[in-house]
Amino acid sequence: MEHIDQLRTLGLFDQRVPRYTSYPTAPVFSTDTGSAFQVECIRALDPAAPVSVYVHIPFCERLCWFCACRTQGTRTLSPVESYLGTLEAELTLLAKTLPAGIKMGRLHWGGGTPTILPPHMINRLAQAIKAAIPPAERFEFSVEIDPTMVDDAKIAALQAEGMSRASIGIQDFSEDVQEAIGREQSFEATKRCVDALRAAGITSLNTDLVYGLPHQTLDKIAASVERVLTLNPDRVALFGYAHVPHMAKRQNLIDQAHLPGDQLRYHLFQKASEMFVGAGYAAIGIDHFAKPADALSRASQAGTLRRNFQGYTEDDCSSLIGLGASSISSYPQGYVQNAAATGAYMQRIEAGTLAGYRGHPLSQDDVLHARAIEMLMCDFALDLDQLQHEFGENAAQLAPTHAEVARKFAPFITLTDSALAIKPEGHPLTRIIASAYDAYAPAEAQYSKAS
Ligand SMILES: C[S@@+](CC[C@H](N)C(=O)[O-])C[C@H]1O[C@@H](n2cnc3c(N)ncnc32)[C@H](O)[C@@H]1O
Ligand code: SF4
Repeated sequence: MEHIDQLRTLGLFDQRVPRYTSYPTAPVFSTDTGSAFQVECIRALDPAAPVSVYVHIPFCERLCWFCACRTQGTRTLSPVESYLGTLEAELTLLAKTLPAGIKMGRLHWGGGTPTILPPHMINRLAQAIKAAIPPAERFEFSVEIDPTMVDDAKIAALQAEGMSRASIGIQDFSEDVQEAIGREQSFEATKRCVDALRAAGITSLNTDLVYGLPHQTLDKIAASVERVLTLNPDRVALFGYAHVPHMAKRQNLIDQAHLPGDQLRYHLFQKASEMFVGAGYAAIGIDHFAKPADALSRASQAGTLRRNFQGYTEDDCSSLIGLGASSISSYPQGYVQNAAATGAYMQRIEAGTLAGYRGHPLSQDDVLHARAIEMLMCDFALDLDQLQHEFGENAAQLAPTHAEVARKFAPFITLTDSALAIKPEGHPLTRIIASAYDAYAPAEAQYSKAS
């Protein structure tokens, strides 16, 4: 049987599975776990261990049709300014709850479009964060940037606040693809942004690309990758387009008839991947590429790559505090998500409580399954002996799943004693294989296609 037919038989083109940026995944969270649990987790943080902080800015001036991120369009800064006031109030509540002396190892601003903030608001937000949780000695500040929504003054403000890494959205440079996804962005504007970020001393620059978009062909993705390579990014994220119009209503503006079919979608990823690897990038996990000297590649080499709500990371902080509407915090004891709608989030903070409204306390079994899934997603390998070493006898409960995975996915697996590894040609199946270790049997409708 042809390799692609084998992948099809194993569900690559039919199954909808989570992207496993957490385990359990967010749809499992329940409103039984909310701000009281959040307060407990924050109070229990080890003051000697720096935390990561994520701040969500759910505003964009343009609303791209393909986008499934939690964001809303605005033409004026007034909702952004009130939201900033709420973030400041949330930070004051957080500071009262945090153990004394705790530091921030990482800060990430995501969205939406954080660079919708004008320079004075960038400074205001950064100062409020640093007042609540001072930066640790080794501090990294990363920001998601829309190249069409940034200028030198905003970059200078971010630089003054210590921005060391940036991630810019590109998706695809072909004009007809851009038109079909409602997102115009010239190569020239993107290059100006990249040059300005480099001049501001960014040490790691990521670019986001998406495959599986309407009108994409092998030639067009190749042309986009060629142009991206001239920008010389340190990292590239190559996401599969998640078409989920029942969840992201604006995607109804995308004509499904122009979406590439399953086989083409598969080859679009393979084509772009070959080009990045051919240009000297290391393939990282299921959808990232990084230069060998970049921290992500080094973590991948060292076996310390991790996966959190922002995707692949080499961040080694054991807790992530999420601020702003819809942000998810991750503590050793479990997850808590802030109210998702901006209005509901603001109401909670104005009422004087932290904004957590749903979550999941982690059981011992959850932690075991989470680690197994993270190992597969990061290393394409899972060693039961290693899990036994970390988790003791409890790890033995995964043995039947392990045996079943080895049997079912045999052509794409190597099995050595207790260790299972997914062969490179089986990497597209990784999310499906990981889902075998998911004890919550996720409802497929909520997720994007495995391919
Ligand atoms: C917050 S946005 C990027 C920052 C900035 N707002 C911009 O547009 O440049 C995060 C990234 O998520 C990815 N993304 C958004 N919607 C997606 C979808 N439906 N399928 C796959 N990736 C998606 C895109 O690559 C996008 O650049
Ligand atoms: S891709 Fe970026 S700019 Fe476009 S809607 Fe999504 S978050 Fe906003």
